[in-house]
Amino acid sequence: MILEAISKNFFLYLSKNKVLDRMAKRFGTKFGADKIVGGETFSQAIPLIETLNHEGLQVTVDHLGEFVNSKKEARERAQECIETIQAISHHQLNSEVSLKLTSLGLDIDEELVMENMEQILEEAEKLGITVTIDMEDSSRCERTLAIYKALKENYPNLGTVIQSYLYKSEEYVDELDPYRPYLRLVKGAYKESGKVAFQEKQKVDENLKGLIKKNLLNGHYTAIASHDDAILDYTKRLVKEHGIPNDQFEFQMLYGMRNQTQHELLKEGYTVRVYLPYGEDWYGYFMRRLAERPANIAFAVKGIFTK
Ligand code: FDA
Repeated sequence: MILEAISKNFFLYLSKNKVLDRMAKRFGTKFGADKIVGGETFSQAIPLIETLNHEGLQVTVDHLGEFVNSKKEARERAQECIETIQAISHHQLNSEVSLKLTSLGLDIDEELVMENMEQILEEAEKLGITVTIDMEDSSRCERTLAIYKALKENYPNLGTVIQSYLYKSEEYVDELDPYRPYLRLVKGAYKESGKVAFQEKQKVDENLKGLIKKNLLNGHYTAIASHDDAILDYTKRLVKEHGIPNDQFEFQMLYGMRNQTQHELLKEGYTVRVYLPYGEDWYGYFMRRLAERPANIAFAVKGIFTK
């Protein structure tokens, strides 16, 4: 238990290390990262998305890269996102798009983020592609939700994420109810203090169950994004008990995680979406996954010696 906590904190600490991040870019998706990342460019990820679609899995792609340093970079990120949306449509891929507002300039200028988002969402609406705003650390959560609310009315195909480790997560689900939100519900991946977030796994898990129940009973489309059997089983029981149809929810898992379970869920008739990150900036994402699950370290080590 203690070792697990040390390893989690260690990898979350490493995930923010800029020097290692720069080094990682030079090496490409080696060291096992290619087991959980779809490639360094969207073109590289296309055959993989086609394969996943062929297997019956739906996809959401995320262009890795969280922090940008200038308005120019944020605009370039928005343009890349638009091109990804166009490529999804052009190649007729069954894929949504996930993005992070920091990559569009959240820490630089909120007006710029709105401009970038509007351009992205115009294209996404035109081509019928859903976009989900990932949730980053708690210091950005309420700004992200304010932007979500401001955009949702004009762009119905817009989703966002609520993290059950936050004390205020239930309040956020209530606040979003009038917006008919498409919510991805997760436990939360960042290192948060006891001031804002539950520190005990059991409380995070119980809170996630409560959020799933609330958003589903509110009648909104819900993505249950977890690899945890207890959460999957809870959801299956809940939807059965309340007669919630399979087209009101989906399960989501990260690419490379629990492949067998993904296929079992498909066989049981559920919608399953795989979150597939791509891009050169895989380092922070990779470290957060190592922090979540020490078993992931095994394939990272294997990756180092098999390349
Ligand atoms: P958790 O890590 O609590 O593990 C519980 C149990 O599940 C484990 O004990 C094990 O039994 C099983 N398990 C977990 N992983 C496994 C694996 N790889 N193989 C086998 N068994 C496994 N976070 C965030 O802050 N913002 C976001 O926007 C997102 N977006 C997002 C999208 C998608 C599609 C997913 C799946 C997750 C996210 N997350 C996220 C990450 C999320 O917050 C969380 O950190 C991870 O999903 C880990 O929590 P779990 O619920 O998966 O199980």
